[in-house]
Amino acid sequence: MRRLNFPAGFSWGVATSSHQNEGNNHNNDFWAWEQLPGKVADGTTSGLVTDWWHSAEADFDRAAALGLNTLRLSVEWSRIEPQPGVWDSAAFDRYRAMLRALHQRGITPMVTLHHFSNPVWLGEMGGWANPAVVRHFEQYATRTAAALGDLVQLWGTINEPYIYATQAYVLGHWPPGQRNLLKLIAVMRNQIRAHAAAYHAVHRVQPGAQVGIVKHMAGFDPHHPLLPGDRSLAAVMDTLANWRFLDAVMTGRFKFPLGLGLRRCRISAATNDFIGVNYYGRSRLRLHWRGIPMEAPPEIAWPAPWINREVYPRGLYRFLMRLRRYNRPIYITENGMADPTDLIRPGFLLAHLANVHRAIQEGADVRGYYHWTLVDNYEWTEGWTTRFGLFGLDTDTQVRTMRRSARLYHEIVAANGITEEMVAQYAPHMMAQVFDHPDDALPRTDAEEDVA
Ligand code: FCB
Repeated sequence: MRRLNFPAGFSWGVATSSHQNEGNNHNNDFWAWEQLPGKVADGTTSGLVTDWWHSAEADFDRAAALGLNTLRLSVEWSRIEPQPGVWDSAAFDRYRAMLRALHQRGITPMVTLHHFSNPVWLGEMGGWANPAVVRHFEQYATRTAAALGDLVQLWGTINEPYIYATQAYVLGHWPPGQRNLLKLIAVMRNQIRAHAAAYHAVHRVQPGAQVGIVKHMAGFDPHHPLLPGDRSLAAVMDTLANWRFLDAVMTGRFKFPLGLGLRRCRISAATNDFIGVNYYGRSRLRLHWRGIPMEAPPEIAWPAPWINREVYPRGLYRFLMRLRRYNRPIYITENGMADPTDLIRPGFLLAHLANVHRAIQEGADVRGYYHWTLVDNYEWTEGWTTRFGLFGLDTDTQVRTMRRSARLYHEIVAANGITEEMVAQYAPHMMAQVFDHPDDALPRTDAEEDVA
């Protein structure tokens, strides 16, 4: 009987976020955005979502029943600091109660300070494009660490900074809805500085804390592996979306294009005790004959029309191997898929974990895995059209339904590994992917050749 064992003490969890779970977060910019016509795919608003502000504990029971020993949640800046410089002790009390409830269930929290949503007042000041955000974020980090630090050792500063910057300032899909490529550089610089400031702020209050960035790693490969144009495009996107931010955090230097026009390109280095990796899949890029970069339709390995990215488990292994260059522990802080039928998710989970296991065998220091997510929640401007939960949610009644994937995850966590039996039972077609790792026959991208 074949079996993949994870290291003793491996962290098994789920990831969530404040705006997507708490409900009635009406003092943030996403709430205001949802009320505008045409902004959310299905015309819904977040409303009560999973009602964690009142009853997260019932879902913590579910997490405990799955055997999870960790859970990632975020705290909502707009609740903690409803007006600039005004700190809401009742909000801190509620977070303290939630964190205590996790500890009581043997679940170690990881807390993210910024997960996309901003206080309305920050948006009115120009949000993340205004350099003043750095000072405000630092104060917020200081206050939050002081109020919650005895209950939290693991802190994430900013969730998916590049995704946030592009959605909000380049593509215009998220508030403030701007479409300005130049803002990307300004926002990323502010995020990097805010991250570094928060890193030091948390450490000043809590010297023993572990503080890290939560970075989305988006796979980019050339549509045609032999075409130089496609290869270059994939390499440029890979560098900009995946590595520039991490390089700046680790080396303290703003590389091109982040340093453009700056006289001083240095900030403090190594402001990262761990790296959080969010991984969902890859895109294959083609340089169009007119010279306009266009995303090629993904060659979807499994039928998954509800997710517009190619499901590509091996991409996670590739990133984990490349991330060894920073010499930091890694947590997979998000990985999951929107699958309301739950037909594909079990195989998704097994194949991704097999790739994590392989990376660990080959020297990647991966300490834990957080599946996105526990219960279906509100997916930003996709609204309720995507269902990422191990538990389904009836939004009218708040009733949760356990999906097969939850049962499978429970078994994986209990075994601290994957067995042949599990694969045979939940996703027999994945047997070879899980245990034999067939080569995907893709040459490495130029960027990978560079670091190899
Ligand atoms: C990530 C986000 C998370 C959720 C998942 C599906 O990019 O961090 O909030 O939207 O995607």
